[in-house]
Amino acid sequence: MTLLNKELELAHEIVEDSNPTNNTDFQTIINRRLNRRSILKGGTGLTAAAFFGALPLVGCSDDDDNSRPIVENGNDAAIPAQGDLKRPETLKFNAVAHSTAEAMTVADGYKAEIILPLGTPLMPGIEDWKDNREQSAESFEWRMGDNHDGMWFFGKKGNGYDAKAAENGLLVMNHEYVNSEELSPFGYYVIQDKDAAPLFQSRRLASDIRREVNCHGVAVVEMTRRADGKGYEMVSTSKYNRRITSSTTSQLAGPVAGSDLVKTKFDPTGYQTRGINNNCGAGLSPWGTYLTTEENFLGVFARGQDASQLSAGHNHGRERYGASENSPGSRYLWHTPDAKDAIIPDEFSRWDMTAVGTNATEDYRNGFNTFGYITEIDPFDPKSMPQKRTAMGRFAHENCAYAPVEQGKPVVFYMGDDARGEYIYKFVSNAVWSNSDIGGGLKAGDKYLNDGTLYVAIFNEDGSGEWKALIHGQNGLDASNSELPFSGQDEVLIFARAAADVVGATKMDRPEWVSVSPMTGEVYVTLTNNTNRGVKEDQPLSASNPRSYQVDGKNRGNENGHIIRWAEAGGDHAAMSFEWDIYLFATPYDLTAENLSQLNDSNDLSSPDGLYFDPRGVLWIQTDDGAYTDTTSCMLLAALPGKVSDGTAITTSAGQQTRVGMPASNDNIKRFFVGPEGCEVTGITMTPDFKTLFINIQHPGNSWGAIKGGKIPRSATVMITRDDGGVILAESFDTAEGVA
Ligand code: FEO
Ligand code: CA
Ligand code: CA
Ligand code: CA
Repeated sequence: MTLLNKELELAHEIVEDSNPTNNTDFQTIINRRLNRRSILKGGTGLTAAAFFGALPLVGCSDDDDNSRPIVENGNDAAIPAQGDLKRPETLKFNAVAHSTAEAMTVADGYKAEIILPLGTPLMPGIEDWKDNREQSAESFEWRMGDNHDGMWFFGKKGNGYDAKAAENGLLVMNHEYVNSEELSPFGYYVIQDKDAAPLFQSRRLASDIRREVNCHGVAVVEMTRRADGKGYEMVSTSKYNRRITSSTTSQLAGPVAGSDLVKTKFDPTGYQTRGINNNCGAGLSPWGTYLTTEENFLGVFARGQDASQLSAGHNHGRERYGASENSPGSRYLWHTPDAKDAIIPDEFSRWDMTAVGTNATEDYRNGFNTFGYITEIDPFDPKSMPQKRTAMGRFAHENCAYAPVEQGKPVVFYMGDDARGEYIYKFVSNAVWSNSDIGGGLKAGDKYLNDGTLYVAIFNEDGSGEWKALIHGQNGLDASNSELPFSGQDEVLIFARAAADVVGATKMDRPEWVSVSPMTGEVYVTLTNNTNRGVKEDQPLSASNPRSYQVDGKNRGNENGHIIRWAEAGGDHAAMSFEWDIYLFATPYDLTAENLSQLNDSNDLSSPDGLYFDPRGVLWIQTDDGAYTDTTSCMLLAALPGKVSDGTAITTSAGQQTRVGMPASNDNIKRFFVGPEGCEVTGITMTPDFKTLFINIQHPGNSWGAIKGGKIPRSATVMITRDDGGVILAESFDTAEGVA
């Protein structure tokens, strides 16, 4: 046996690539978590009518009408409607310069503070993080996890949700994945045994896996305004503080619940599973619950040789999600610790999806099928079980954004599948919206999210687009399909990618976050990058994914990414067609031939990822980049977009015709923050008074986030406030010369 400490591909860098289609391109049984006592012992909106009816759309000219009245609460659902809803006419703060420093930089007049780093105890009695990393694996069920990602601040009044409450709230955030080297006292420790069975030649320690499982998932942290009135601090004794991890029992809700394809040894009835995993971008429901996502869950599963045990269709379904035969999974190797070290049944073997039993209830072949869902959590009910909303489809979910709700109309959610050449989806509820459901918790979720239609997007060459329903029995989604004969809606949803292939969905350049403009109702999606575009034959150029270019003599596809947007027909989010253009091409400003949005050094960016329209209509853009990092680390920009068709028709350097939005200027997009070297800037939420902005920093490349004098880099939240405690980006304060 040998000790190995080798750099393998980090989980966040896994860009799974399993779309082989030729689609044309214009196209708790028992809650098994340890209880609180044993841990201590063990150690250590606005309505659509308002948007499209009485009020003018926001244009690109400087006579934009910002006089839109504040719509008082009543039909603005979970969107905070309090405070200064006026969108600034221009961006007047001084742009933050490119930086590769080991520190973060924020615009003049603002303060950025590190809070809630990895390992922060969420209850009294848990000792603080120490750089020796000897805290017990079990204690991480009550600590902040790793790689903070999407989040939302839920205003709280008394014991309930109040979208306008800013003094006190529940900050709910995702912990996407782990940096094993920083997490374990042993670093990334792997035992090699060449004589072992193929999936077990590289094995990891039980305590390391347990710690990693606990560092994934979601954290709920009660925050209260600090005594000086600026910013917030954690309420360490709060009954709401909670972790949901990759071992927390979760409910399968909706059409997939009880399906043969989700029956496992853990739950032979197919209604429950253990854990949520690789929780990436955030989502808020209009009734005030948290919608977390499951993205690169592939990385924690291993699959041996078992194709002969499965139907050809179900084998195809697994492969379509990157799980081919004889793959030990990524660096995680969660299935590998010795079974005798397990403290709960199947603690490790459940991550091995190989079909080894005589049927699915004897193994974990279907464990894989119980991950990849939008999962609803009610932060105000600490005892509630996460609900995997299967009607919204199973794929590498990035985030989930709802369209403005309107009384008596369906509720619509937009979602992206982040892998090269994957698709953009929307879910339309069958139930129609009622304002009386605000604060309705998971019961409201049952009403809107268990029953509805999943659609996938086709972006046509001429700027039009259409939605195709993924309904069993329609659009070829039936038993006659040769690659995966669909026997029911459960199969359509579990293998949503394969279903979307059949209807001819458009292969996109890695759809990341979605956000809907509160001013125009238009939908924006970051397409972060795609090094396969125009490089691999099955991902040719298209009008909606029009760039592929040489960098340093090598074809790097669409290395820097772009942001696409569309307007639904008639302003109806349940419409079957839309009109689209490309809002912005991300590009280093001096890469002239590709700088189609006319960016300059104050606003250029690469690999847009996090995306958030604040309730005033300011668009915040975050980057997760590896292409421009010699010049600048990842960043947060503020932007004031116009609307679809405010730009021109263009031809890219690759000869592809498309449409781009109005050019960038220092008035309409500007760099607000640059993170420390090596990091990703992701996750964003604002308090209802617009005075505090929270963002997250993942995997800083240096001692940023370390305890004072320490060296272990830690992911953390950054809390941004104005020096004078005012409203972020409020025009009365910011001046062209800087902050008054
Ligand atoms: Fe978790 Fe696609 O970012
Ligand atoms: Ca990430
Ligand atoms: Ca992301
Ligand atoms: Ca990314």
